[in-house]
Amino acid sequence: MSRIVALTNQKGGVGKTSLCWNLAVYLSARFGKRVLVIDLDTQGNISHTLIKQSDASEIPHDALNFYGCQTKMLFDVNMSPDVLQPMRAFYGCDLIYTEPNDLSLTQFVYQKLHDDPAGDHNAPLNHFILTVREFAKNYDYVLIDCPPFIGQHILAALMVCDYVINPIQPTSFVLDGTSGFFQNLQQIGREEIFLGLVLNNVDKRWVRHEAMEQVLKEQLGDKVYRTTIHHRAPFDAAIYLNKPLWRVPAWNTAHEETEAFVRETVSRMNEREGFVDELTVQDEEMEK
Ligand SMILES: Nc1ncnc2c1ncn2[C@@H]1O[C@H](COP(=O)(O)OP(=O)(O)OP(=O)(O)O)[C@@H](O)[C@H]1O
Ligand SMILES: [Mg+2]
Repeated sequence: MSRIVALTNQKGGVGKTSLCWNLAVYLSARFGKRVLVIDLDTQGNISHTLIKQSDASEIPHDALNFYGCQTKMLFDVNMSPDVLQPMRAFYGCDLIYTEPNDLSLTQFVYQKLHDDPAGDHNAPLNHFILTVREFAKNYDYVLIDCPPFIGQHILAALMVCDYVINPIQPTSFVLDGTSGFFQNLQQIGREEIFLGLVLNNVDKRWVRHEAMEQVLKEQLGDKVYRTTIHHRAPFDAAIYLNKPLWRVPAWNTAHEETEAFVRETVSRMNEREGFVDELTVQDEEMEK
């Protein structure tokens, strides 16, 4: 059984990549799950992070360079999943990568859509969906990091995923953004994939943040995660260094919040499915 999860929000810088990366690292390194990360963002942030050398990991030698399947290939109807191989990245995660700032991902998708005006416009999207589902058979979790805009490849992510998580920040326009997102899901007939809104990067010193968090929880109820992730320096450091949070100095609180987010994510899916995927810490030594 596998679960395909997309992290989206058309607002930039809200923590899509950070939460996707943490989900990947916790699920694989801490809980021993088989994880595939797909980088659907031309910025290539998660790909860049996942191949960074870290002194805290068992590093497959070849993970320091990109190799194997690029995300754009998933849209190419001439490429079958049999010839496409994800690369081994760190912490036991596999990665289908996008090189940082590789605009050709977007160009490729749109070019494929317009190649043959008389042909099947949906072919590249359908091919993406079929290929990701084929890959997913080998993993417990497939995590898709999405770019901060709406386009054909976001549509592809929303069509293929079983669940979508929206990281949000409690700032102006957040309510507009979330209601717009619910409308989008309705338009494509996929409201059932919505897993939750996660408040991230919340600054306790900022009264407005606290007030807005309250408003969101009152108005949207359990659509909002119980877990809130606050603004914490180790959170940023971990991603920069490509080290799990429990390996970064002064990690405790950031780690507790992040682990709570990962556990709530899995328990929300468990509740939905009636199937319980247990999260058991694999190796307490990793925390030392
Ligand atoms: N809880 C947090 N505490 C501290 N820093 C954070 C936190 N969440 C995110 N950041 C930092 O904020 C920046 C933006 O986060 P991130 O890149 O994950 O957002 P994003 O939504 O993926 O952005 P984009 O829309 O550009 O893809 C990063 O430098 C990240 O390290
Ligand atoms: Mg990002």
